[in-house]
Amino acid sequence: MSVSEVFESMAYGPAPEAPDAAVQWIADHEPLGLFIDGQWQQPTSGERFDVINPATGRRLTSVAQAGAEDVDAAVSAALRAFDPWSALPGHARARYLYALARQLQRHARLFAVLESLDNGKPIRESRDIDIPLVVRHFYYHAGWAQLMAEQFPRYAPLGVVGQIIPWNFPLLMLAWKVAPALAMGNTVVLKPAEFTPLTALLFAEIVQRAGLPPGVVNVVTGDGRSGELIVRHHDVSKIAFTGSTEVGRIIRRETAGTGKRLSLELGGKSPFLVFDDADLDSVVEGLVDAIWFNQGQVCCAGSRLLVQESIEERLLDKVRARMEKLRIGDPLDKAVDIGAIVAPVQLQKIQELVTQGVAEGAVMWQPSWACPTDGYFFPPTLFTNVAPAATVAQVEIFGPVLVSMSFRTPSEAVALANNTSYGLAASVWSENINLALDIARQIKAGTIWVNSTNLFDASSGFGGYRESGFGREGGKEGLHEYLRWIGGGKEDDPVVPRSPRPRAQDDQAGINQLPAIDRTPKMYIGGKQVRPDSGYSRLVYARSGEIAGEVGEGNRKDLRNAVEAAHKAASWADGAAHNRAQILYYVAENLAVRSREFAARLISTTGASADEAVREVETSVERLFTYAAWADKYDGPIHRPPMRGLALGVPEPIGVMALVCPDESPLLALVSLVAPAIAMGNTVVAVPSEAHPLSATDLYQVLETSDVPAGVVNIVTGRRDVLARTLAEHDDVDSIWYFGEAEGAKAVELASAGNMKRTWAFSQSRNWDGGWSAQSEEFLRESTQVKNIWVPYGA
Ligand code: NAI
Repeated sequence: MSVSEVFESMAYGPAPEAPDAAVQWIADHEPLGLFIDGQWQQPTSGERFDVINPATGRRLTSVAQAGAEDVDAAVSAALRAFDPWSALPGHARARYLYALARQLQRHARLFAVLESLDNGKPIRESRDIDIPLVVRHFYYHAGWAQLMAEQFPRYAPLGVVGQIIPWNFPLLMLAWKVAPALAMGNTVVLKPAEFTPLTALLFAEIVQRAGLPPGVVNVVTGDGRSGELIVRHHDVSKIAFTGSTEVGRIIRRETAGTGKRLSLELGGKSPFLVFDDADLDSVVEGLVDAIWFNQGQVCCAGSRLLVQESIEERLLDKVRARMEKLRIGDPLDKAVDIGAIVAPVQLQKIQELVTQGVAEGAVMWQPSWACPTDGYFFPPTLFTNVAPAATVAQVEIFGPVLVSMSFRTPSEAVALANNTSYGLAASVWSENINLALDIARQIKAGTIWVNSTNLFDASSGFGGYRESGFGREGGKEGLHEYLRWIGGGKEDDPVVPRSPRPRAQDDQAGINQLPAIDRTPKMYIGGKQVRPDSGYSRLVYARSGEIAGEVGEGNRKDLRNAVEAAHKAASWADGAAHNRAQILYYVAENLAVRSREFAARLISTTGASADEAVREVETSVERLFTYAAWADKYDGPIHRPPMRGLALGVPEPIGVMALVCPDESPLLALVSLVAPAIAMGNTVVAVPSEAHPLSATDLYQVLETSDVPAGVVNIVTGRRDVLARTLAEHDDVDSIWYFGEAEGAKAVELASAGNMKRTWAFSQSRNWDGGWSAQSEEFLRESTQVKNIWVPYGA
């Protein structure tokens, strides 16, 4: 085809993703084994089965069929690992989960390609949806591990959890199961689906590489027989299952009366409701995501289109035109919309149901183009003229088949939507928010998307009503699936024991061989290291009385610049909370890398012992983890005032915050003030300890290397009370925290009256290592202001 012809037709050329690295990974690991107790083992029985690439029908490799002895070994390993794993401080588990997230991110493309080879899903989906959600899930749950002791003081982990997952989102379902279980201190025996075991095995490899203790995660491959062995094992405390309602029912019966906890995420026949005032072009794209995403092999697929009669024909014309343009083919082609069906048995099931639909009188429509013939492909399909009781309207097809029906009134729409034994999800499309929310309340399903579809996030629980199962995955509610109430205990008696802190090393050893190179700590404003406007420096003394260094003497002009820089960085609040979390984790990571140096600085300037200094740095790292964890979890309440409607309480950042730090624990106190403020989306001007400012000026180097955007954190050194007063008077500062002398606190409160800024001022000294300072919610409350958004509704 010539270039001019390409311009004429605007056809896509092939854009293949290379399979080489994934194919090589497979070759390097053959024969693929079982991952038990941190090691690779072959199945005792020697039994194996083939793994097929559904896009070609060709064999990719073979995997092991786990038998009774193998499952027993995996459960025993998990049981041995449980006590030490659950006894680790949450912070340690957070570090492991964080390491898994990082590893997943570093090998994202390998995971994506392997997933598409194994499952047949388009690379665009595995690369842009599955894997990023997996990564997000591990970051998010690293956060919950960090917060567990504080947030769940009356709960304990369950023990060994058996997790059985399906083939439609192999790695994502693994993440949904493994991340919360590990975060809460459980250990895991996971069985991937027989059609798609490969990314779970690659995951096992990174578990090993991330250094998780042996037995914490075990991966056994096999078919339903291996699943059954896990379900029946008496040392398994809980089963978490996603798959067919049929197998879910078997497992419910199997576990009944055994005391095993159970969560089931089963099938669906989710309605996609379109009202006559909906934006039809958006609706069409929504449908593409609802039913043709992942070839329709999605438990919450919007498989029943319910459309208001007056717009039915117009919408269906648009849908057919769009279907004609969908591209089916090689999943590794980046321009392909629809890939292959996972296996011949699934393809056959779709074909049979479609044949039955036609036999029962529904009208079938498919695009004019033909599917590839060498793999397992099925074209996007639309059924009209469907009776509500027809098989295709009631049975989960789990393929790219959309069934359309019409309604006249909102109540008829609700009746049709609820005319199913399932209740997993629904989409409601209307430009009228009253109507959309009213309908959302009436549909019996675990997730309702308004003017959207198939939205997932680690922070929002997912799960079904009715025969779609029970239990939730994701969000705070999802954690309860992996916890049990143990009650009792004193108010401050943490359930998860804290391990003793590691002994400090002698951080000063070997440092004093040569005279140090002279360093000029500067101030940090707008992402730049700057000299003080005054041109003066102040001496900073070490505990020994010697000069430890010099810092700039900040003045009114420096503060003005800092406040201006903080305002310019206001878009920090608009970014995703997840990104703020990641940046805070990154700051923690980089601080940890330099912990010896920071500890040495504390020893020389504050006179802390080596133990105390190491502890201060470690606690600072831990505190950064805490606020990274909170960044995407400090959600607001939803009020239900006495009316038809909701009031959404949304915590918003305050704006530019001035943080005036105390002298005690100079590094930890600075971190304890800055981290919650920026986690919530504020930008800050920090005045570090007057007596010991060098930890702060060292810290800006960490901030610089951790992707903290310019202006989010500004550091101005100098005389605390003079700077505090100027900040308190500044009309563009929205809030000020002050930790210093009684006189200073009073002056700040008085001066703040100018623009009535919020103040949080203290004069007594604090234990920054624990007690009140570790109560993160106090700090988060002071970093936010709640906006209540009232949303009355009613059709
Ligand atoms: P399935 O429910 O048989 O398989 C899911 C998982 O359960 C697999 O890992 C399988 O090995 C395991 N399993 C099978 N029998 C078991 C048993 N007796 N005890 C313990 N574990 C057992 O799903 P399948 O056969 O792959 O697909 C059949 C239908 O299920 C699909 O056509 C679709 O309608 C539905 N399905 C729903 C999913 C969802 O996300 N809700 C996912 C996959 C399938």
